[in-house]
Amino acid sequence: MNPLEVLGETRTPDGSDFKLARRGNEYIILANGKTLMSSRMHGSEEALATSGLREARTLRQPRVLIGGLGMGYTLRATLDLLPRGAEIVVAELVGEVVEWNRGLLGSLAGYPLKDRRVRMDVRDVAITLRAAHAHFDAVLLDVDNGPSAFSDTANAGVYDDRGLAAAHEALRPGGILAVWSAREDRKFEQRMRYAGFRVEVEHVRARLKKGGPHHVIFLGHKPDSSSGIPYTKH
Ligand SMILES: C[S@@+](CC[C@H](N)C(=O)[O-])C[C@H]1O[C@@H](n2cnc3c(N)ncnc32)[C@H](O)[C@@H]1O
Repeated sequence: MNPLEVLGETRTPDGSDFKLARRGNEYIILANGKTLMSSRMHGSEEALATSGLREARTLRQPRVLIGGLGMGYTLRATLDLLPRGAEIVVAELVGEVVEWNRGLLGSLAGYPLKDRRVRMDVRDVAITLRAAHAHFDAVLLDVDNGPSAFSDTANAGVYDDRGLAAAHEALRPGGILAVWSAREDRKFEQRMRYAGFRVEVEHVRARLKKGGPHHVIFLGHKPDSSSGIPYTKH
């Protein structure tokens, strides 16, 4: 097996160690020594966009928030699905991840940061969510291993009751919250319902052409009528 070559290293605001490494052709982002993601398997990151954007992609000027840039696969799938009038905000906690995507990692997903529809928000997605009110048509969250967070201790707050309430508030009526997870999580599903979402659970495979580990996408639909305002296409 090829040796692991460390290409970059930084710390998240809570002090977690973040590394970019390469083994042969494979790029890996490690959080506290554990693989957060690898370029070898990224089908479920793309599925997050395909599932979460099923309504937004029918709009002329959809507004979408992606939480977690990673290697840009969810962002690439989003760009490929959405029209020219789309506005896509990507909230990324770690500035170096953005730099890695502008450089070494850029070619993996076809340099998605060069697309004019993209605006980077280099901060905690929880802050972006709390600042938005009935603004986004879809929110795609993949900031960690799923609702059982591990790369940044503060991430539990993205997936808890307050985090889900903020996501619900940030969405327009009829909008969709899509959450990537490495595994099933019944308690999280219940919390989504408690926050006011109608919940669907999709099982996807980690590799594009099927195969690889099983991952889960939680879809939370915000009802059209929650604010009393009919959902209008814009
Ligand atoms: C698993 S990766 C995302 C993978 C991405 N879906 C893709 O397609 O490549 C998680 C990303 O979320 C970022 N992140 C972690 N916590 C965050 C937070 N609270 N807010 C925003 N980004 C966060 C990490 O730095 C990392 O880039």
